[in-house]
Amino acid sequence: MTEIVSIAAAPRLEGHVVSPGDKSISHRALLLSALSEGTSSVQGISLGADVGRTRTIIEALGASTSNDGARVLIEGGAARLRPSQRPLDCGNSGTTMRLVMGLVAGFTGTSVLIGDASLSTRPMDRMAEPLELMGATVTGVGERILPPLDVQGRGLRGITYTVPVPTAQVKSGVLLAALAAEGETTVIETTPTRPNTEEMLHQAGIDVRWHHTDAGTEITLSPGQPHATDWLVPADPSQAAFFLVAGLLGGQARVRCTGLYGDPTRVGFLAVLERMGGTLERHHTPDGLLEVQAASSELHGTEIRSSEIPSVDEVPILVVAAAGARGTTRFCDVGELRIKESDRFAGALGLAIGLGARAWAEGDDLCIEGLGSASAFSPMRLDAHGDHRMAMSAAIAGAVGQGATVAGFDSVATSYPGFLDVLDSLR
Ligand code: S3P
Repeated sequence: MTEIVSIAAAPRLEGHVVSPGDKSISHRALLLSALSEGTSSVQGISLGADVGRTRTIIEALGASTSNDGARVLIEGGAARLRPSQRPLDCGNSGTTMRLVMGLVAGFTGTSVLIGDASLSTRPMDRMAEPLELMGATVTGVGERILPPLDVQGRGLRGITYTVPVPTAQVKSGVLLAALAAEGETTVIETTPTRPNTEEMLHQAGIDVRWHHTDAGTEITLSPGQPHATDWLVPADPSQAAFFLVAGLLGGQARVRCTGLYGDPTRVGFLAVLERMGGTLERHHTPDGLLEVQAASSELHGTEIRSSEIPSVDEVPILVVAAAGARGTTRFCDVGELRIKESDRFAGALGLAIGLGARAWAEGDDLCIEGLGSASAFSPMRLDAHGDHRMAMSAAIAGAVGQGATVAGFDSVATSYPGFLDVLDSLR
């Protein structure tokens, strides 16, 4: 059943938002803890259903987890882990599936991975290819290797692999498999993507080195077992992006987001919004985290290269910003949007058009001629097609514009269960 939610227009939006624990870091903290001997803990973990899937899967693989106040405790270690008799259900989470493929490729035996209707349409060939080069066998449906998947691990060998598209998921899956391989593995990426896996493996004592060259980033890992670690998860910048855009587009708005993970691969959207004329005050706090305040601004169009926002996660909310900006915004080379939780390429066009803007595709470019102000948005109806980021983008557009009715809002629970409460707290 898809939930339909109505969002009322908000003449004022003001307040402080601490977004949930970063989803990428939460997944990795659980997976590395499962591999580590002894007790690890994760503080500030994302409470979304996607990370819940990863937690259930590490339990099915033999780790045990428990809640200790706001922390999750994990007992892991190689001796406990083995393939599960039952299918590993990754739900809606592509990150869970691609990272777990890498993890179980390192086990001897077969694992079955399944997902929901959306995940079952997402190509896993990009992850299967390097794992097969390492010696695993991956089978799925059709040429693009759609789930359900069988991943058969056996003595893996290290490889040197250039990831053909910028994707942190594939880089991470290969690095997780490489922990169990014989010999070193080198992963090369031509566009830098989120560095969480290599950074966290390093923090957990693995011999992993990376360096940047003109051709990209080269990451080399020697096999090993991570040691138990107390992980602290910072706030998710791609969830803060929704409220920061609300702060820029709202008529009388000021929104402050704190405690954010601030790696450059994750906050490219801030530079984009600044280039569009957004008033953003940002600074790093002594703990190395990022604080950003957004205030009502008159935005204008810009040209956005996909390498500025490598995972394209923030494109749906930037589409709302573009629809409220003066002039045309071009999102260049964003074809990857077509294979996210929904076809976000088509969804982004529908979102902008639903708001009354002109929007069109030119090959893999997405162009939006904005209305000059969110007050000119039309009241909007949008089917999010089970895609959390589309649903939240539409909700923000409704709040800063003339209201919205969003079908498929239940999808928001995959990443941001408290989203509507936070939006209400700003009214
Ligand atoms: C993620 C990587 C990104 C992103 C996803 C999380 C990760 O996907 O879209 O939300 O945690 O590695 P790609 O690696 O396919 O770009």
